[in-house]
Amino acid sequence: MGLREVMLEELRDLYSAENQLVKALPKLAKAAQDEELQQSFSEHLEETTGQVERLKEVFSLLEEKPTGKHCKGMEGLIEEGKEAIDEEEEGEAYDIGLIGAAARVEHYEIAGYTAVIAMLKGLGLEEAAEPLVETLNEENEALEKLESKLQELIVASAESAVSEDAESEEADAVAAGKAGPAKNSRSGNKRREVSVRN
Ligand SMILES: [Fe+2]
Ligand SMILES: [Fe+2]
Repeated sequence: MGLREVMLEELRDLYSAENQLVKALPKLAKAAQDEELQQSFSEHLEETTGQVERLKEVFSLLEEKPTGKHCKGMEGLIEEGKEAIDEEEEGEAYDIGLIGAAARVEHYEIAGYTAVIAMLKGLGLEEAAEPLVETLNEENEALEKLESKLQELIVASAESAVSEDAESEEADAVAAGKAGPAKNSRSGNKRREVSVRN
């Protein structure tokens, strides 16, 4: 198998991967609790639809067919994404699990596009590589967004944990008769309202 055949295999793998993602991303968007995260999954779904179109464009430039391969790697990643969706965590911890699954998908795509772009360039097929460079940029941006949301949610979840600890210490003190209920004590349902510092 020559370089062109290997490149085509990779390209078909990506075509299958992106098509699987068009079906999977709405589920992630629906599951996300954080509004911004929800929105970035929805935006990336739109980009993904465009990425499928770009791949079709590349296949037609190469006068080849896009079909004939099922990406098992993406199937596995999506399967793990479903496990994250089914987790019983709440709030930040739940969304952090979703981000973990989604970031794996982006890394997988980035690896695939990076390789196929290099192969196309190596074959002197610059024109076919161009649309895929745009896609690669979108994948990198999607990953960056996920990573910054991850950091934000980690800070928020640490703050939730601190306020939960403070509450339980206060409750212990009250139970032991050492102190009365403190002024301005947080109520249980306010626990999740943590502000995120920049
Ligand atoms: Fe993609
Ligand atoms: Fe992606």
